[in-house]
Amino acid sequence: MSTKATVRAPSNIAFVKYWGARDLDRVIPTNPSISMTLDACYSRSTVEHLAGDGPHEIRWRGRDGALEDAPPAFAERVRRHLDYLRGWSGSGGRFRVATENSFPAAAGIASSASGFAALTLATLAALARDVPLAERSDLARKSGSGSASRSVMGGYVEWPRGTGEGERHAHQVAPASHWDLRDVIALVASGPKQTSSLEGHRRAPTSPYFRTRLERLPERLGAVRMALALRDFEHLGGVIEAEAIDLHCVAMTSTPPIFYWQPETLAVLAAVRRMRADGVAAYATMDAGANVHVICLPESRDAVAERLEALDAVQRTIRDGVGDGPVTEDEHLF
Ligand code: DP6
Repeated sequence: MSTKATVRAPSNIAFVKYWGARDLDRVIPTNPSISMTLDACYSRSTVEHLAGDGPHEIRWRGRDGALEDAPPAFAERVRRHLDYLRGWSGSGGRFRVATENSFPAAAGIASSASGFAALTLATLAALARDVPLAERSDLARKSGSGSASRSVMGGYVEWPRGTGEGERHAHQVAPASHWDLRDVIALVASGPKQTSSLEGHRRAPTSPYFRTRLERLPERLGAVRMALALRDFEHLGGVIEAEAIDLHCVAMTSTPPIFYWQPETLAVLAAVRRMRADGVAAYATMDAGANVHVICLPESRDAVAERLEALDAVQRTIRDGVGDGPVTEDEHLF
């Protein structure tokens, strides 16, 4: 008899980024990271556990809205993670999977974070394995997408450096109800990014600024934790914007260099500085892509979105904000 489960898991935006790994194969990061779990940007994954041998079936929702075979590179990552989870659970059998995103995949919004969090949680549910949150985070991390370890829970989340076994999972720093922060995402390019985060982590230590960023991080992590605890928006914003610029400095000075920014990215960054000069509190952060996440308070969300939408550089915005984390759904994708 087969069992089927569907989970919707949100993406997240890192305030302090995971960039570089002590062990990339085992997804052990060089530095701790802190993120805000999003709400409107999510992946939904249905997993069916089937008896018998044979290959897993992996589909995703294509551009025309129909479920179709997932592209080979993505399907291979999913297959490896399904094999891993099958081995971990000792269940045998095979899986049929379908996945979809509420936002353009591979555009600098962490689609692998939400995708692999949803896949991990739906697989556990299909296997009827009820494991503690810390273990769910650790299993999501083992997909190869470190940021997925943070997407299995809501609110504000820290994924530590993970010095020992049993310490490699993320934990919640504060629930979403602690602070209603918003994220207006300025989409400037919806095409897939040219260089994967995986390749970015691999090249990061070749940058002369890699060590410099790491030296600054303890102070920055402390500042972000403190600003979150005190709900000090100006303090938080300044630190996360500087940290995002540092990450991209490392990427641009890696060998070979990685330029995630497009001219449009710079236009949005300039607009965010203009907003601040005009008294609108807003701060920018960018993951490994050209899009800009503009973090703001609820009262300035509409002003921020309108000013971003007025820019030629911006195709459209997604009005998102802090969310409560994954949910299990009754309606399946197939
Ligand atoms: C820049 O290896 O987790 O977003 O799974 O492809 O999203 P994906 O990447 P992952 O690296 C994330 C890199 C980052 C920073 C972050 O989210 O911490």
